[in-house]
Amino acid sequence: MPAGARDYYRGGAHDELTLRDNRAAFERWQIHYRVLRDVEHRDLSTSLFGHRVEWPVLVAPTACHQLAHPDGELATARAASAVGTTMVLSTLSNYAMEEVAREARHGLWFQLYVYRDRGLTAELVARAAACGCRAIALTVDAPVGGVRERDLRNAFAFPAEMPMRNVLPRGPEPPPPDVPPISFQQYVNSMFDPSLKWSDLEWLCARTTLPVLVKGVVRPDDAVRAAEHGAQGVVVSNHGGRQLDTAPAAVDVLEPIVRAAGEKLTVLADGGVRRGTDVLKALALGARAVLLGRPVLWGLAVGGEAGARRVLELLRKELDVAMALAGCRTLGEIDRDLVRRA
Ligand code: FNR
Repeated sequence: MPAGARDYYRGGAHDELTLRDNRAAFERWQIHYRVLRDVEHRDLSTSLFGHRVEWPVLVAPTACHQLAHPDGELATARAASAVGTTMVLSTLSNYAMEEVAREARHGLWFQLYVYRDRGLTAELVARAAACGCRAIALTVDAPVGGVRERDLRNAFAFPAEMPMRNVLPRGPEPPPPDVPPISFQQYVNSMFDPSLKWSDLEWLCARTTLPVLVKGVVRPDDAVRAAEHGAQGVVVSNHGGRQLDTAPAAVDVLEPIVRAAGEKLTVLADGGVRRGTDVLKALALGARAVLLGRPVLWGLAVGGEAGARRVLELLRKELDVAMALAGCRTLGEIDRDLVRRA
């Protein structure tokens, strides 16, 4: 990949402390495994909002997959389908959600950024339901763009030849000129609505029958508010360390959030998941499933659909081995007592 695009994928905000801590946090936990529990037959499947996934790792929403491969999100969706899981499609995808949905045989969720233009936002929500998306993840940790100094140094801009087709007007009218090449930060600051508040979550939940998850929560009280305003789930996430630097790692705040959420919310988590043991740790701390961001992009860059699929297959295999070695036959057996902080 060109250095600018690679750094855009890889980088985090400011000193990248949160980016690094997303990894370090997993390393602070140990698995106190159980033995002699007949783990010959193992089942990694779970269900999310009534739909089965074969294992508890979803593809996180990440922008502009064509920076990695010309087939972009189409290839990612095929890869996720091939390994029996769901992809969460970013608002900022290069392919339109209708095109991606056709490739997503194991379900597609739509990640929503709320635009200053509420008409456009409402249209995105309606289209997501119409093309068969099964949930909406409302990202709330980006009222303004995080400051990514790698992007500033590289003067990285989204290439004009890779338009974000989700947000181009559709229908018979000729499309307007493509979004000019601007940086992520300029794009967010000019297009997204920084005045977003809890009543807007209610607005969204009233517009759709799909379950809504709030993505980017790191506090128990915000998770409780999300439930009070109509969300059915939260994604505990610091946006892969790309927004507020020095925010906590998901694994470090997961347990209190899960406790506060009780039965009201499905709690997912992301950030720094790289090994099967990371998935096991997040589940032991109460996550129902986790999302995988950058590794999928690296797989896509190396080998398109096959590369992304290989990354996912490796992780699935690792989780299977980790479960066997920890004495777990099902995800339900991955309990809180299995992990302790080192
Ligand atoms: C992201 N993330 C993200 N999140 C979101 O809600 N909408 C988006 O468009 C994007 N775009 C995006 C681009 C890139 C290049 C990255 C790396 C991340 C955040 C993403 O959904 C997820 O929270 C993190 O990527 C998870 O961390 P890991 O697995 O990358 O460490």
